[in-house]
Parts: sequence; C-alpha cells; structure tokens
Amino acid sequence: MSDYTNMSGYYDLIMTSGYYDYKKIVDGLLMNGPVHDVLEIGCGTGLILEELAKRQHNITIMGIDLTQAMLDIAQQRLLTFSSVKLEQQNITQMSLNQKFDFSFSYGGVWYFVNDGDQEPFLVSHISDHAANVAGFSKLANHMKDRSKLLLGIQGPHFDYAKPISNGMVYSQKIEPNGHGFIKHYYLDDGDRRLMSQTIDYRTYKFEEACDMLGVHGFEFHKKTPTNQQFLVFQKK
Ligand SMILES: C[S@@+](CC[C@H](N)C(=O)[O-])C[C@H]1O[C@@H](n2cnc3c(N)ncnc32)[C@H](O)[C@@H]1O
Repeated sequence: MSDYTNMSGYYDLIMTSGYYDYKKIVDGLLMNGPVHDVLEIGCGTGLILEELAKRQHNITIMGIDLTQAMLDIAQQRLLTFSSVKLEQQNITQMSLNQKFDFSFSYGGVWYFVNDGDQEPFLVSHISDHAANVAGFSKLANHMKDRSKLLLGIQGPHFDYAKPISNGMVYSQKIEPNGHGFIKHYYLDDGDRRLMSQTIDYRTYKFEEACDMLGVHGFEFHKKTPTNQQFLVFQKK
C-alpha cells in the first residue's frame, strides 16, 4: 500500500521547496480544458486543488486519496472553497455517486516519466497488476463518455540529497526491482532523521499502459508537446 502518513507532516514543506511547480501544473490542466466536474486521483494535501479552485470558479472539484493524514491537511487548506469536496478512497475500490468529465493524477496514483528519447513509461503507486486494472476499471465507471483523463509527466527519478527551504535535507534513493522500483524518501535535520517512507512502485512500458487504459475505454488523445505537463487520454 502507498500510504503517505509518515511523510504527511512534511509533505508541503518538501513539495513547495521546488519539488513540484503547482502553478505550472495547473497551467497544464487548464490548457486541456474546458473543465466542469473534476476529479483528482491521489490529491494528497490539496496543493493542486487549491491552485485550481482559486483560478476556476464555475467548476465542481472532488479530490480522493488513500491517506487520511494527507486529506486532513487538504481539508484545512480547502476549507474556504465550497466547490471542493474530499473523500478518503482507494482508487482500486472507488465508489462515488458522481460522474466526471475531467480527471487527472499528477504524482498521485499514476503518472508518466519521460526518460530522454525513449517513450514515456507509466509509474503506479499500486504495485500489484490486478489492482491497477481494478483502479482503471473503477475510474472508467466514474467518467462520462468523451471525458478526459490527464496523467502528469515527470522527469526520471534518481538518487540525490538537497537542502530544502528551512535548511533540512531531503533525500531519495531508488532501487529497481522486478516490477518497477522501490523509492525511499528521507528528511533529515542535521543528524536527526525526521521522516522516512518507502513506496513500492510498478512501472509499465508506454504500449502496455495504453493497452491497459484502452481496455477501459481510454485512448491516447494526441502527441503531447514536450513542454506540456500531462499526457491526455479520452474516454470513448
Ligand atoms: C506524491 S502524492 C501526490 C499528491 C498531489 N497530487 C500533489 O501533487 O501534491 C501521492 C498521493 O497518492 C495517494 N495514493 C497512493 N495510492 C493511492 C490509491 N491507491 N488510491 C488513492 N490515493 C492513493 C497517496 O496517499 C498520496 O497522497
């Protein structure tokens, strides 16, 4: 399971120290609009949803996440935005009384990694293949016909350590395994380790990902320009 409880208290600090650029992410979403009923899959502490809700007033937004500790932070952040609802749900069993015309995941449950000249590969927070298939099936059941699914594009993962805005040091270590890779996340304050978290990721080649998505009606929409933040799929 990809539980983020250990990292939750430090997540915002690490992410807003340059790990992600939330304004740019939302630019990438809106480039693929118009959006009306939006679902974020793996919304975490709500950093993307806050930026989206600030910029788009006539939409409804639902954020789901597995980790209650992340959602607790999101709940506080998004208190003043009545357009945003949050639910603790595992995508593999998602059950909501709503259908969406726009869904996305950026660093959430699923995303693509662009590795040089090669085709992007899909990274999943879900290590089990059958559970990934179940997740796409649940997602498809919640999406309207002709709706869009946007999956974020990131650079390759590698080992590094770097000071964040308050001088603490964030580091990560990647270990390839049979179905993808294990990623260790750490935060240290001098000699003191404040946080450690390990996630077992599954990866899929681009073609495998398109096949898996295609079974659930999601077709790769178009060649995405290299400067874009998302790959776009459209539901038949
Ligand atoms: C790296 S965070 C990304 C959060 C947010 N999208 C952002 O950009 O800040 C990944 C999130 O995915 C959630 N997640 C992982 N597996 C999940 C699953 N099976 N169902 C729902 N959420 C999941 C984790 O709990 C975590 O909050």
